Amino acid sequence: MTNSTPRTALVTGASRGLGRALAEQLAARGTEVVLLARHANPLEEVAAGIRSRGGRAHVIAHDVGAGDASAIAARVAALVGPLDLLIHNASTLGPLPMPELGELRDEALVRVFEVNVLGPQRLTRALLGPMRREGRGTIITLSSDAATQAYPGWGAYGASKAALDQLTAVLAAELEGSGLRAFAIDPGEMDTRMHADALPEADPSSLARPEAVAASVLAQLAAEAGPTRLRVDALPAGRVSR
Ligand SMILES: NC(=O)c1ccc[n+]([C@@H]2O[C@H](COP(=O)([O-])OP(=O)(O)OC[C@H]3O[C@@H](n4cnc5c(N)ncnc54)[C@H](OP(=O)(O)O)[C@@H]3O)[C@@H](O)[C@H]2O)c1
Repeated sequence: MTNSTPRTALVTGASRGLGRALAEQLAARGTEVVLLARHANPLEEVAAGIRSRGGRAHVIAHDVGAGDASAIAARVAALVGPLDLLIHNASTLGPLPMPELGELRDEALVRVFEVNVLGPQRLTRALLGPMRREGRGTIITLSSDAATQAYPGWGAYGASKAALDQLTAVLAAELEGSGLRAFAIDPGEMDTRMHADALPEADPSSLARPEAVAASVLAQLAAEAGPTRLRVDALPAGRVSR
């Protein structure tokens, strides 16, 4: 374990895709990881794989969009104590196929914001106290180019990611001098279920592997604090192979 290796981490959306890769790579470095997603079985499989390789992993099956996050925070505290790293990776696109704004129902927009914005904010709020008392730690949110580009059909998701970017930037400002930091990373297009759900016609071989993106994201833990929104291809860790 190096200085840039967190002792403990919570990764939301850790049952597949980028979240799984992040959790597995953290555990391989010696971090005790808590994996969170809605469905227990896939999470348990990821945790079992980590343990079979000598890592330490715990599972919390929970919907991040389901309101109060204090129960999650209490479970995390009981399992691993204060977090060194909190990664808000779980996310929803909303209804599929993704409707244009003229067809977007209020309930769908509200649900996207519950999962992608209120969920991370509530979880941060519930976990921040112990992290502040430790005086160290990192909070990472996963953004998207849909936060800054106007793609037809991506209104709910893109607006939620833009809101999450701004929450992250304000949090980073509020954490200045505390020993904690926060930043958002746009991971670029990855070969995951989310991408296949959104753009089923895309050629998977043109997309980055989530494992390669995870390595780049985690390399940023060792980097000097920089901008509060980063695009993965621009990280000092270098280009992500496709
Ligand atoms: N893939 C891309 O090309 C791409 C591009 C830009 C940004 N991103 C961002 O990168 C992050 C990872 O995306 P991905 O492609 O790896 O996604 P993914 O393969 O679809 O995985 C999503 C993960 O989040 C969990 N999840 C979904 N809704 C949840 C909820 N309400 N509560 C708790 N967990 C929930 C899923 O498990 P359950 O279904 O069991 O809950 C799963 O573990 C996301 O923030 C995404 O917006 C992805």
